[in-house]
Amino acid sequence: MGPEASPVYTGLKGIYVAKTSLSYIDDERRKILYRGYSIEDLAEHSTFEEVTYLLWFGKLPNKKELSEFKENLVTEREIPEEVVDIVNKLPKNAHPMDILKTGVAALGPFDSDLPSIWGQHIHERRAENLRIAMRIFSKMPAIMAYYYRMKENKDIVHPRKDLSHAANLLYMIWGREPNSIEAKLMDITLILHADHGFSASTFACLVTASTLSDLYSAVISGISALKGPLHGGASEQALKMLMEIGSPENAREYVKAKIERKERIMGFGHRVYKSYDPRVRILKKYIGMLAKETGQETLLNTALEVEEIMIELLGRKGIFPNMDFYSGQVYYMLGIPTEIFTPIFAISRISGWIGHVLEYWEQNILIRPRALYIGPMETRYTPLENRI
Ligand code: ACO
Repeated sequence: MGPEASPVYTGLKGIYVAKTSLSYIDDERRKILYRGYSIEDLAEHSTFEEVTYLLWFGKLPNKKELSEFKENLVTEREIPEEVVDIVNKLPKNAHPMDILKTGVAALGPFDSDLPSIWGQHIHERRAENLRIAMRIFSKMPAIMAYYYRMKENKDIVHPRKDLSHAANLLYMIWGREPNSIEAKLMDITLILHADHGFSASTFACLVTASTLSDLYSAVISGISALKGPLHGGASEQALKMLMEIGSPENAREYVKAKIERKERIMGFGHRVYKSYDPRVRILKKYIGMLAKETGQETLLNTALEVEEIMIELLGRKGIFPNMDFYSGQVYYMLGIPTEIFTPIFAISRISGWIGHVLEYWEQNILIRPRALYIGPMETRYTPLENRI
Protein backbone atom coordinates (compact mmCIF):
# COMPACT_ATOMS: atom_id res chain seq x y z
CA MET A 1 0.00 0.00 0.00
CA GLY A 2 1.53 3.34 -1.06
CA PRO A 3 1.42 6.40 1.20
CA GLU A 4 -1.37 7.87 -1.01
CA ALA A 5 -3.74 5.30 0.47
CA SER A 6 -2.97 6.34 4.06
CA PRO A 7 -5.65 8.34 5.84
CA VAL A 8 -4.60 11.91 6.69
CA TYR A 9 -5.77 13.14 10.08
CA THR A 10 -5.65 16.88 9.48
CA GLY A 11 -5.43 18.74 12.77
CA LEU A 12 -5.28 15.32 14.52
CA LYS A 13 -9.03 15.66 15.08
CA GLY A 14 -10.25 12.85 17.30
CA ILE A 15 -6.89 11.03 17.25
CA TYR A 16 -5.47 9.61 20.48
CA VAL A 17 -1.68 9.96 20.43
CA ALA A 18 -0.81 8.82 23.97
CA LYS A 19 -2.32 7.56 27.21
CA THR A 20 -2.58 9.80 30.25
CA SER A 21 -3.77 9.61 33.85
CA LEU A 22 -3.83 13.37 34.37
CA SER A 23 -7.20 14.57 33.15
CA TYR A 24 -10.30 13.05 31.68
CA ILE A 25 -12.77 15.01 29.61
CA ASP A 26 -16.20 13.43 29.37
CA ASP A 27 -18.16 15.51 26.90
CA GLU A 28 -21.28 13.38 27.12
CA ARG A 29 -21.59 13.57 30.91
CA ARG A 30 -20.13 17.10 30.92
CA LYS A 31 -17.40 16.24 33.38
CA ILE A 32 -13.70 16.93 33.77
CA LEU A 33 -11.66 14.85 36.17
CA TYR A 34 -8.11 15.52 37.33
CA ARG A 35 -6.69 12.13 38.28
CA GLY A 36 -10.23 10.97 39.03
CA TYR A 37 -11.30 13.98 41.12
CA SER A 38 -14.07 16.16 39.70
CA ILE A 39 -13.09 19.75 38.99
CA GLU A 40 -16.22 20.86 40.87
CA ASP A 41 -14.85 19.25 44.04
CA LEU A 42 -11.36 20.57 43.47
CA ALA A 43 -12.56 24.11 42.71
CA GLU A 44 -14.64 24.18 45.86
CA HIS A 45 -12.39 22.44 48.37
CA SER A 46 -8.84 22.44 47.03
CA THR A 47 -6.17 24.97 46.13
CA PHE A 48 -4.10 25.50 43.01
CA GLU A 49 -0.97 24.31 44.83
CA GLU A 50 -2.71 21.10 45.90
CA VAL A 51 -4.05 20.51 42.38
CA THR A 52 -0.57 21.05 40.97
CA TYR A 53 0.81 18.46 43.40
CA LEU A 54 -1.96 16.10 42.33
CA LEU A 55 -1.11 16.55 38.65
CA TRP A 56 2.66 16.16 39.13
CA PHE A 57 2.76 13.42 41.74
CA GLY A 58 -0.41 11.50 40.98
CA LYS A 59 -2.07 11.81 44.38
CA LEU A 60 -3.37 14.46 46.74
CA PRO A 61 -0.64 15.42 49.21
CA ASN A 62 -0.93 14.77 52.93
CA LYS A 63 -0.35 17.70 55.31
CA LYS A 64 3.42 17.26 55.47
CA GLU A 65 3.82 16.78 51.72
CA LEU A 66 1.72 19.85 50.96
CA SER A 67 3.54 22.01 53.43
CA GLU A 68 6.96 20.94 52.03
CA PHE A 69 5.74 21.46 48.47
CA LYS A 70 4.44 24.95 49.26
CA GLU A 71 7.64 25.81 51.10
CA ASN A 72 9.68 24.79 48.05
CA LEU A 73 7.44 26.83 45.78
CA VAL A 74 7.48 30.06 47.78
CA THR A 75 11.28 30.10 48.03
CA GLU A 76 11.41 30.12 44.21
CA ARG A 77 9.11 33.10 43.62
CA GLU A 78 11.75 35.76 43.00
CA ILE A 79 13.47 36.04 39.61
CA PRO A 80 17.14 36.93 39.01
CA GLU A 81 17.94 40.65 38.65
CA GLU A 82 19.31 39.96 35.16
CA VAL A 83 15.95 38.54 34.09
CA VAL A 84 14.17 41.60 35.51
CA ASP A 85 16.54 43.73 33.39
CA ILE A 86 15.88 41.69 30.26
CA VAL A 87 12.11 41.95 30.74
CA ASN A 88 12.42 45.69 31.40
CA LYS A 89 14.42 46.25 28.22
CA LEU A 90 11.87 44.58 25.95
CA PRO A 91 9.67 46.95 23.92
CA LYS A 92 6.70 48.06 26.00
CA ASN A 93 4.32 47.41 23.10
CA ALA A 94 5.45 43.79 22.67
CA HIS A 95 2.83 41.07 23.08
CA PRO A 96 2.79 40.00 26.76
CA MET A 97 3.06 36.35 25.70
CA ASP A 98 6.31 37.22 23.94
CA ILE A 99 7.48 38.84 27.17
CA LEU A 100 6.54 35.72 29.15
CA LYS A 101 8.24 33.47 26.61
CA THR A 102 11.41 35.59 26.68
CA GLY A 103 11.33 35.74 30.49
CA VAL A 104 11.03 31.96 30.83
CA ALA A 105 13.76 31.48 28.20
CA ALA A 106 16.02 33.86 30.14
CA LEU A 107 15.49 31.92 33.37
CA GLY A 108 16.90 28.74 31.84
CA PRO A 109 20.58 29.71 31.78
CA PHE A 110 20.34 30.79 35.46
CA ASP A 111 19.05 27.39 36.52
CA SER A 112 21.85 25.50 38.22
CA ASP A 113 20.17 22.14 37.57
CA LEU A 114 19.96 22.60 33.82
CA PRO A 115 23.59 21.87 32.79
CA SER A 116 23.79 18.79 34.99
CA ILE A 117 20.87 16.97 33.38
CA TRP A 118 22.45 16.83 29.94
CA GLY A 119 23.74 13.41 29.09
CA GLN A 120 21.75 11.82 31.93
CA HIS A 121 19.13 9.22 31.11
CA ILE A 122 15.66 10.76 31.29
CA HIS A 123 14.68 8.54 34.24
CA GLU A 124 17.69 9.78 36.21
CA ARG A 125 16.66 13.41 35.77
CA ARG A 126 13.43 13.29 37.78
CA ALA A 127 14.65 15.03 40.96
CA GLU A 128 16.31 17.81 38.95
CA ASN A 129 13.29 18.10 36.69
CA LEU A 130 10.97 18.50 39.66
CA ARG A 131 13.17 21.30 41.01
CA ILE A 132 13.17 22.95 37.58
CA ALA A 133 9.39 22.50 37.38
CA MET A 134 8.90 24.26 40.73
CA ARG A 135 11.12 27.12 39.62
CA ILE A 136 9.27 27.72 36.35
CA PHE A 137 5.89 27.39 38.09
CA SER A 138 6.83 29.82 40.86
CA LYS A 139 8.68 32.40 38.78
CA MET A 140 6.20 32.90 35.93
CA PRO A 141 3.93 35.22 37.97
CA ALA A 142 6.86 37.54 38.80
CA ILE A 143 7.86 37.80 35.12
CA MET A 144 4.35 38.87 34.20
CA ALA A 145 3.63 41.12 37.17
CA TYR A 146 7.00 42.91 36.91
CA TYR A 147 6.56 43.43 33.17
CA TYR A 148 3.09 44.87 33.71
CA ARG A 149 4.12 47.24 36.49
CA MET A 150 7.29 48.41 34.72
CA LYS A 151 5.25 49.13 31.61
CA GLU A 152 2.85 51.18 33.70
CA ASN A 153 5.80 53.06 35.25
CA LYS A 154 4.98 51.61 38.65
CA ASP A 155 7.46 50.14 41.13
CA ILE A 156 7.65 46.39 40.97
CA VAL A 157 6.14 44.55 43.91
CA HIS A 158 8.28 41.68 45.15
CA PRO A 159 6.61 38.35 45.93
CA ARG A 160 5.53 37.48 49.44
CA LYS A 161 6.12 34.08 50.95
CA ASP A 162 3.10 34.13 53.23
CA LEU A 163 0.52 34.36 50.43
CA SER A 164 -0.97 31.57 48.33
CA HIS A 165 0.07 31.34 44.69
CA ALA A 166 -3.20 33.01 43.61
CA ALA A 167 -3.09 35.76 46.24
CA ASN A 168 0.59 36.48 45.57
CA LEU A 169 -0.08 36.78 41.84
CA LEU A 170 -2.77 39.42 42.45
CA TYR A 171 -0.63 41.13 45.08
CA MET A 172 2.29 41.51 42.66
CA ILE A 173 0.01 42.87 39.91
CA TRP A 174 -2.03 45.24 42.07
CA GLY A 175 0.44 46.17 44.78
CA ARG A 176 -2.18 45.41 47.42
CA GLU A 177 -3.17 42.21 49.11
CA PRO A 178 -6.39 40.74 47.68
CA ASN A 179 -9.27 40.01 50.01
CA SER A 180 -10.22 36.39 50.60
CA ILE A 181 -12.99 36.36 47.94
CA GLU A 182 -10.71 37.82 45.28
CA ALA A 183 -7.99 35.32 46.15
CA LYS A 184 -10.45 32.40 46.11
CA LEU A 185 -11.86 33.39 42.71
CA MET A 186 -8.36 33.69 41.28
CA ASP A 187 -7.51 30.32 42.76
CA ILE A 188 -10.61 28.75 41.18
CA THR A 189 -9.77 30.05 37.70
CA LEU A 190 -6.21 28.76 38.10
CA ILE A 191 -7.58 25.33 39.06
CA LEU A 192 -10.08 25.25 36.20
CA HIS A 193 -7.37 26.11 33.67
CA ALA A 194 -4.75 23.81 35.20
CA ASP A 195 -5.17 20.95 32.75
CA HIS A 196 -7.26 19.88 29.83
CA GLY A 197 -5.92 16.77 28.14
CA PHE A 198 -3.88 17.29 25.00
CA SER A 199 -4.73 20.90 24.23
CA ALA A 200 -2.64 22.41 21.42
CA SER A 201 -0.22 24.00 23.89
CA THR A 202 0.19 20.79 25.93
CA PHE A 203 0.86 18.87 22.76
CA ALA A 204 3.41 21.52 21.70
CA CYS A 205 5.19 20.98 25.05
CA LEU A 206 5.17 17.24 24.48
CA VAL A 207 6.57 17.49 20.95
CA THR A 208 9.55 19.42 22.30
CA ALA A 209 9.91 17.23 25.39
CA SER A 210 9.79 14.05 23.31
CA THR A 211 13.12 14.97 21.75
CA LEU A 212 14.50 14.80 25.33
CA SER A 213 14.98 18.54 25.36
CA ASP A 214 14.51 20.27 28.72
CA LEU A 215 11.49 21.61 30.62
CA TYR A 216 12.23 25.26 29.85
CA SER A 217 12.22 24.51 26.13
CA ALA A 218 9.03 22.48 26.45
CA VAL A 219 7.26 25.26 28.37
CA ILE A 220 8.38 27.87 25.83
CA SER A 221 6.74 25.74 23.11
CA GLY A 222 3.57 25.65 25.21
CA ILE A 223 3.55 29.42 25.72
CA SER A 224 4.04 29.93 21.97
CA ALA A 225 1.08 27.69 21.11
CA LEU A 226 -1.14 29.18 23.79
CA LYS A 227 -0.64 32.71 22.42
CA GLY A 228 -2.89 32.12 19.41
CA PRO A 229 -6.51 33.37 19.41
CA LEU A 230 -7.83 29.89 18.57
CA HIS A 231 -6.46 28.75 21.93
CA GLY A 232 -5.48 30.91 24.92
CA GLY A 233 -5.88 34.24 23.17
CA ALA A 234 -9.66 33.74 23.01
CA SER A 235 -10.52 35.20 26.45
CA GLU A 236 -9.07 38.61 25.64
CA GLN A 237 -10.79 38.63 22.25
CA ALA A 238 -14.09 37.55 23.78
CA LEU A 239 -13.98 40.37 26.31
CA LYS A 240 -13.13 42.91 23.58
CA MET A 241 -16.15 41.68 21.64
CA LEU A 242 -18.45 42.07 24.66
CA MET A 243 -17.18 45.61 25.14
CA GLU A 244 -17.86 46.35 21.51
CA ILE A 245 -21.41 44.99 21.80
CA GLY A 246 -21.90 47.17 24.87
CA SER A 247 -25.32 46.01 26.02
CA PRO A 248 -27.69 43.02 25.69
CA GLU A 249 -29.98 44.81 23.18
CA ASN A 250 -27.14 45.04 20.64
CA ALA A 251 -26.16 41.40 20.93
CA ARG A 252 -28.47 39.78 18.38
CA GLU A 253 -27.63 42.08 15.49
CA TYR A 254 -23.90 41.90 16.26
CA VAL A 255 -23.75 38.11 16.53
CA LYS A 256 -25.92 37.51 13.46
CA ALA A 257 -23.84 39.87 11.34
CA LYS A 258 -20.62 38.16 12.42
CA ILE A 259 -21.99 34.71 11.65
CA GLU A 260 -23.25 35.89 8.26
CA ARG A 261 -19.73 37.14 7.50
CA LYS A 262 -18.52 33.64 8.51
CA GLU A 263 -16.48 35.10 11.34
CA ARG A 264 -15.89 33.19 14.57
CA ILE A 265 -17.34 34.31 17.85
CA MET A 266 -14.44 34.10 20.26
CA GLY A 267 -15.03 32.09 23.41
CA PHE A 268 -17.37 29.67 21.64
CA GLY A 269 -16.77 26.21 20.28
CA HIS A 270 -14.28 23.60 21.32
CA ARG A 271 -12.46 20.75 19.65
CA VAL A 272 -13.49 18.30 22.37
CA TYR A 273 -16.77 19.63 23.78
CA LYS A 274 -19.70 19.44 21.51
CA SER A 275 -22.00 19.91 24.49
CA TYR A 276 -21.57 22.34 27.41
CA ASP A 277 -18.11 23.12 28.85
CA PRO A 278 -18.39 22.08 32.55
CA ARG A 279 -15.95 24.78 33.58
CA VAL A 280 -18.44 27.41 32.42
CA ARG A 281 -21.06 26.07 34.82
CA ILE A 282 -18.61 26.46 37.71
CA LEU A 283 -17.60 30.00 36.76
CA LYS A 284 -21.25 30.95 36.37
CA LYS A 285 -21.81 30.05 40.02
CA TYR A 286 -19.56 32.91 41.07
CA ILE A 287 -19.74 35.46 38.30
CA GLY A 288 -23.20 36.82 39.18
CA MET A 289 -22.04 37.81 42.65
CA LEU A 290 -18.81 39.27 41.28
CA ALA A 291 -20.67 41.29 38.62
CA LYS A 292 -22.99 42.72 41.28
CA GLU A 293 -20.14 43.62 43.59
CA THR A 294 -18.14 45.31 40.84
CA GLY A 295 -21.06 47.00 39.07
CA GLN A 296 -20.47 44.95 35.91
CA GLU A 297 -23.97 43.57 35.51
CA THR A 298 -24.32 45.01 31.98
CA LEU A 299 -21.23 43.15 30.88
CA LEU A 300 -22.50 39.89 32.33
CA ASN A 301 -26.01 40.37 30.93
CA THR A 302 -24.52 41.06 27.51
CA ALA A 303 -22.51 37.85 27.78
CA LEU A 304 -25.55 35.83 28.83
CA GLU A 305 -27.51 37.25 25.91
CA VAL A 306 -24.68 36.39 23.47
CA GLU A 307 -24.63 32.87 24.89
CA GLU A 308 -28.38 32.47 24.42
CA ILE A 309 -28.29 33.74 20.84
CA MET A 310 -25.27 31.59 19.97
CA ILE A 311 -26.95 28.46 21.32
CA GLU A 312 -30.10 29.32 19.38
CA LEU A 313 -28.12 29.86 16.16
CA LEU A 314 -25.24 27.38 16.43
CA GLY A 315 -26.06 25.04 19.30
CA ARG A 316 -27.15 22.37 16.83
CA LYS A 317 -23.58 22.38 15.48
CA GLY A 318 -22.27 21.69 18.99
CA ILE A 319 -21.10 25.23 19.57
CA PHE A 320 -21.42 26.43 23.15
CA PRO A 321 -19.45 28.90 25.28
CA ASN A 322 -16.05 27.63 26.38
CA MET A 323 -14.19 28.49 29.58
CA ASP A 324 -12.44 31.43 27.90
CA PHE A 325 -15.71 33.24 27.26
CA TYR A 326 -16.28 33.62 31.01
CA SER A 327 -12.74 33.55 32.42
CA GLY A 328 -11.98 36.88 30.69
CA GLN A 329 -14.98 38.43 32.38
CA VAL A 330 -13.92 37.11 35.78
CA TYR A 331 -10.40 38.51 35.28
CA TYR A 332 -11.80 41.84 34.11
CA MET A 333 -14.19 42.12 37.06
CA LEU A 334 -11.32 41.26 39.39
CA GLY A 335 -9.42 44.23 37.92
CA ILE A 336 -6.80 42.26 36.02
CA PRO A 337 -5.50 44.14 32.97
CA THR A 338 -6.81 42.65 29.72
CA GLU A 339 -3.37 42.31 28.17
CA ILE A 340 -2.27 39.76 30.76
CA PHE A 341 -5.27 37.43 30.45
CA THR A 342 -3.43 34.98 28.21
CA PRO A 343 -0.26 35.00 30.36
CA ILE A 344 -2.48 34.17 33.34
CA PHE A 345 -3.83 31.22 31.38
CA ALA A 346 -0.19 30.11 30.94
CA ILE A 347 0.44 30.62 34.66
CA SER A 348 -2.43 28.16 35.27
CA ARG A 349 -1.76 25.66 32.48
CA ILE A 350 1.90 25.31 33.51
CA SER A 351 0.66 22.68 35.99
CA GLY A 352 -0.79 20.51 33.24
CA TRP A 353 2.07 21.15 30.80
CA ILE A 354 4.65 19.99 33.32
CA GLY A 355 2.49 17.13 34.61
CA HIS A 356 2.06 15.78 31.09
CA VAL A 357 5.74 16.15 30.23
CA LEU A 358 6.80 14.31 33.40
CA GLU A 359 4.28 11.57 32.64
CA TYR A 360 5.28 11.33 28.99
CA TRP A 361 8.98 11.06 29.86
CA GLU A 362 8.25 7.90 31.83
CA GLN A 363 7.78 6.12 28.50
CA ASN A 364 9.19 8.63 26.11
CA ILE A 365 8.88 8.13 22.38
CA LEU A 366 9.86 10.75 19.85
CA ILE A 367 6.81 12.46 18.35
CA ARG A 368 7.43 12.49 14.66
CA PRO A 369 4.38 12.08 12.41
CA ARG A 370 4.42 12.00 8.61
CA ALA A 371 3.11 14.42 6.03
CA LEU A 372 1.60 13.04 2.85
CA TYR A 373 3.50 14.56 -0.04
CA ILE A 374 1.21 15.95 -2.75
CA GLY A 375 3.70 18.14 -4.62
CA PRO A 376 5.20 17.62 -8.08
CA MET A 377 7.55 14.70 -8.82
CA GLU A 378 10.78 14.48 -10.78
CA THR A 379 10.91 18.18 -11.61
CA ARG A 380 14.02 19.10 -13.58
CA TYR A 381 16.36 21.74 -12.14
CA THR A 382 16.36 24.90 -14.29
CA PRO A 383 19.50 27.05 -14.18
CA LEU A 384 18.79 30.52 -12.79
CA GLU A 385 19.41 32.30 -16.13
CA ASN A 386 16.77 30.13 -17.86
CA ARG A 387 13.99 30.83 -15.37
CA ILE A 388 11.21 33.24 -16.25
N1 ACO B 1 -18.02 30.88 16.04
C1 ACO B 1 -18.69 30.58 14.92
N2 ACO B 1 -18.60 29.40 14.27
C2 ACO B 1 -17.79 28.49 14.80
C3 ACO B 1 -17.07 28.70 15.98
C4 ACO B 1 -17.20 29.96 16.60
N3 ACO B 1 -16.54 30.26 17.72
N4 ACO B 1 -16.35 27.61 16.28
C5 ACO B 1 -16.60 26.71 15.31
N5 ACO B 1 -17.47 27.24 14.42
C6 ACO B 1 -18.02 26.57 13.25
C7 ACO B 1 -17.03 26.57 12.11
O1 ACO B 1 -17.16 27.71 11.29
C8 ACO B 1 -17.38 25.28 11.39
O2 ACO B 1 -18.54 25.53 10.64
P1 ACO B 1 -18.77 24.75 9.25
O3 ACO B 1 -18.80 23.28 9.58
O4 ACO B 1 -20.08 25.27 8.76
O5 ACO B 1 -17.60 25.11 8.38
C9 ACO B 1 -17.78 24.34 12.53
O6 ACO B 1 -18.21 25.20 13.59
C10 ACO B 1 -16.63 23.48 13.03
O7 ACO B 1 -15.51 24.31 13.25
P2 ACO B 1 -14.03 23.76 13.35
O8 ACO B 1 -13.07 24.88 13.32
O9 ACO B 1 -13.83 22.66 12.34
O10 ACO B 1 -14.07 23.05 14.74
P3 ACO B 1 -12.85 22.72 15.63
O11 ACO B 1 -13.26 21.68 16.56
O12 ACO B 1 -11.63 22.49 14.83
O13 ACO B 1 -12.64 24.15 16.37
C11 ACO B 1 -12.09 25.87 17.81
C12 ACO B 1 -12.43 24.38 17.68
C13 ACO B 1 -10.81 26.17 17.03
C14 ACO B 1 -11.86 26.18 19.28
C15 ACO B 1 -13.25 26.73 17.25
O14 ACO B 1 -14.47 26.39 17.88
C16 ACO B 1 -12.98 28.22 17.35
O15 ACO B 1 -12.32 28.79 16.48
N6 ACO B 1 -13.48 28.90 18.44
C17 ACO B 1 -13.21 30.29 18.66
C18 ACO B 1 -11.89 30.47 19.39
C19 ACO B 1 -11.95 30.03 20.82
O16 ACO B 1 -12.88 30.34 21.56
N7 ACO B 1 -10.89 29.33 21.24
C20 ACO B 1 -10.75 28.86 22.63
C21 ACO B 1 -10.88 27.40 22.68
S1 ACO B 1 -10.92 26.83 24.33
C22 ACO B 1 -9.36 26.98 24.89
O17 ACO B 1 -8.41 27.00 24.18
C23 ACO B 1 -9.24 27.09 26.32
